[in-house]
Amino acid sequence: MILDIPVPDDWHVHLRDDEMLAAVVDHSAAWFRFALVMPNLTPPIASVAHAIEYHERIVAAVGIDAPAFSPLMTLYLTPAVTPAEVRAAADSGVIGGIKFYPAGATTNSDAGGTSLRDFMPALEAMAEARMPLLVHAESTDPALDIFDREAAFLESEVGPLLAQMPELSVTVEHISTSTGIEMVKQFDQAWGSITPHHLSCERSDILANGLRPELYCKPVINSAEHRRALVAAATSGNPKFFLGTDSAPHPLSQKEARVAKAGIFNAPYGLHVTAEVFHQAGALDQLAAFTSSNGAIRYGRSPSKDCLRLERLDEPGTDPADLLTTASGQQVRLFGVAEAARWTLTRL
Ligand code: NCD
Ligand code: ZN
Repeated sequence: MILDIPVPDDWHVHLRDDEMLAAVVDHSAAWFRFALVMPNLTPPIASVAHAIEYHERIVAAVGIDAPAFSPLMTLYLTPAVTPAEVRAAADSGVIGGIKFYPAGATTNSDAGGTSLRDFMPALEAMAEARMPLLVHAESTDPALDIFDREAAFLESEVGPLLAQMPELSVTVEHISTSTGIEMVKQFDQAWGSITPHHLSCERSDILANGLRPELYCKPVINSAEHRRALVAAATSGNPKFFLGTDSAPHPLSQKEARVAKAGIFNAPYGLHVTAEVFHQAGALDQLAAFTSSNGAIRYGRSPSKDCLRLERLDEPGTDPADLLTTASGQQVRLFGVAEAARWTLTRL
């Protein structure tokens, strides 16, 4: 089975910095055209000047021949992101969105806010400048069960904002529940990114056969029922849903530790996993919309004219590498090895 699709875009990726950036960036550059790069460094990227410098470091770190690879930057919504900074971001040409993190919800989110309502002047400037708001939708209320936190944040924060500001376009990032799917469908100006791991895994996969820290991410992978809702939305052809891998590398020493960091490194094999999900759903005819056009159109771009060829092997080949090693010898576990043995990808 052979399928050609326009070169995909990754509308949510963590490329990190320094040694980790150097180790991972080629895995995104190999398969993707646009990459919307998340700003949760320490300190966070919260000014246009820092975003431009980070953009230069990313471009300089690409070690393969990937002329079409175009990182688009994001700003981290902090009090430093004033309405003037929002306008400068919109004029910069390299900033694709501004990201809200609830403080404490995930990796390097301490600079975030408690409520979207605390950022109204910036949000109004974003609506005016047509700058997308990207939301990590997860309550940090310790009284709430972890599997209910996305829905709680959507209902208390994102829904009211969408109702109040129809001019502000919003991407609900890494949707993990049917609540997220339904909210995106409900509002014209709402969109949703979905990851390969939320499409392919359920919470039992994390816990049922030994604890698998490699599957721990935020928002936490939820139930089988929620996964089915994500697959139905992604494979439906609905233009509001698109791929954002949320590829988020952590060194094994921090990932398989007593307290494991949240984040799954899926840049190398995320497309293989996504293709297998669409294959299992009998929906490969909708793959290109999800990986290569819906997100492009949401962010004001045309789908790529170049193609990626995907081939599903009748019998899986040998398992490819499952660890990446950085320059100083740190290791990172790769997600999607089984799917990568099933699919071969070639840039045409
Ligand atoms: C991300 C990271 O490690 O930067 N982790 C994750 O589990 N997804 C942060 C994020 O997107 O929440
Ligand atoms: Zn992320």
